[in-house]
Amino acid sequence: MSTSSFSLSQRADEALRDNRFRIILKLLVWLAALYPLTALSTKILFDPLALGANPAETILRSTGDWTLRFLLLTLAITPLRRITSIGGLIRFRRLLGLFAFFYGLVHLGCYIAFDRYFVLSEITADIIKRPFITVGFAALVLMIPLALTSTRAAVMRLGGARWQDLHRLVYVVAILAVLHFWWLVKRDVTEPLIYAAILAALFAYRIIARVKKRSGRGSGFPSVR
Ligand code: HEM
Repeated sequence: MSTSSFSLSQRADEALRDNRFRIILKLLVWLAALYPLTALSTKILFDPLALGANPAETILRSTGDWTLRFLLLTLAITPLRRITSIGGLIRFRRLLGLFAFFYGLVHLGCYIAFDRYFVLSEITADIIKRPFITVGFAALVLMIPLALTSTRAAVMRLGGARWQDLHRLVYVVAILAVLHFWWLVKRDVTEPLIYAAILAALFAYRIIARVKKRSGRGSGFPSVR
């Protein structure tokens, strides 16, 4: 890494240690993360025609897309902080993970309200009989323990190693999420394929870092958070 890029990442890291800068940045992340939901809600309330011929499908697809995007963004934080040497990026991982969970809940809520009109028997039948719904549901259920243990207090309570073991579940969640998308697509799998490729790259990065750590080349991943 060149001196200039080294000092740049150092400066970025120092800036992230500054409380005021971090609060402003977090506010921007909040605004950016809530934008898709705000845009969608605005359309639902004021311009339903913009949702196309099948509004329920548009709403479901949009919220599903954002759930998956936030999930992959969360997983990208560790590689990003190692590649850029900006350790402070870790401060955004929990926030992004919680947004993934939030969008997942909104997605489920939209499915219950707009796709199944709150008919519990239909929802249960879907979860049991339609494989893409089964895996989507499993992904969301597996996100619950991750969201519940995302606090600093939970890390202390569980201990670093156990917390890390539990949070490896996020990879299972991501695989199920991509599978969910793949299975629901009838013909053109380009989009799920792109998500699958990103996930594969994130996996590959993790595996390579682990192998390097074992063979004593580089430090692998920083522990816990
Ligand atoms: C981590 C959890 C989940 C993720 C990441 C996720 C992601 C997605 C994605 C990416 C899509 C397709 C968007 C597109 O076509 O552009 C989608 C569609 C859909 N999802 Fe999910 N989903 C999750 C959980 C669930 C759950 C829990 C349910 C219902 C119980 C569900 C039901 C659906 C339905 C019905 C569709 C639309 C299918 C269609 O267009 O015919 N998803 N989801």
